[in-house]
Amino acid sequence: MGEKDSLQKKSLKFQDSYTFLHIFMIYLLCSEDWGGFVLPYGSRNPKKECRWDMDIREDNGEGIDSWKEVTLIYNAALKQIETRMEILNEEFQHVHQYNPIEHIKARIKTPESIVKKLKRNGYESTIDNMVKHVNDIAGIRVICSFTSDIYRIADMISEQRDLQVLTVKDYITFPKTSGYKSYHMIITVPVYLSDRTVDAKVEIQIRTVAMDFWASLEHKIHYKLEGDAPEHIRSELVECAKMVTDLDARMLKLNEELLILSREREKE
Ligand code: GTP
Ligand code: MG
Repeated sequence: MGEKDSLQKKSLKFQDSYTFLHIFMIYLLCSEDWGGFVLPYGSRNPKKECRWDMDIREDNGEGIDSWKEVTLIYNAALKQIETRMEILNEEFQHVHQYNPIEHIKARIKTPESIVKKLKRNGYESTIDNMVKHVNDIAGIRVICSFTSDIYRIADMISEQRDLQVLTVKDYITFPKTSGYKSYHMIITVPVYLSDRTVDAKVEIQIRTVAMDFWASLEHKIHYKLEGDAPEHIRSELVECAKMVTDLDARMLKLNEELLILSREREKE
């Protein structure tokens, strides 16, 4: 590993969990369905998205720097992955005359959600733990038109030599019992800082527009009803998930027919 050590190995000298929690408490954020805040294109400064309106203790200097360093690194990682996705999309347009990516959402997980997750998994709230055990601090959602595009994008990501794929969860081939479908990858991307290189983890979720529509509503229901939705709602969601699968398959077929027809007409 050497210089390219992962964030875990790098000494983020922040050991004081009390101070860490304190910073988290003052870091009030607008939560959204993904446990984070969406970073709009061209604006990667998380401070713009949250409020720092409470007292920050003077002696927290080192800790804040560490937290800032972490957000800086994950923001840089997100920017890189987002740009790479855009490049792949443009290149695809050039070669195949269509864009596989409908749109991209990127977000940094809120400190609040990070702390909750660490707690849920029995870890203390330290920078070391969050870097080691929370894989989705930086998250990117790639929304595609067709199911086939999902695998194309995933392959293209895997083929990028400096990206390391840590895990893959294919909830498209193997949907969750809830009906949830999406393709998840945890990858690392090298972030080149002035004095070292850090491999930062990024969670990539790839899904179709229809799958995304379903997942947002299901999440809202799950969140609003605190995971205790009545049986008829759960079974209706499963039914809707089947319709999503059917719709995706039919749209893909239509698109394939369109491609064949337009090629034939071009020849004429
Ligand atoms: P966390 O759920 O983040 O703790 O991660 P995990 O280790 O369970 O990983 P997984 O890849 O299964 O899920 C990662 C993310 O996918 C979640 O944080 C959600 O954003 C999304 N996700 C997973 N399952 C569901 C689901 O049933 N419904 C919806 N709406 N989203 C889901
Ligand atoms: Mg998550």
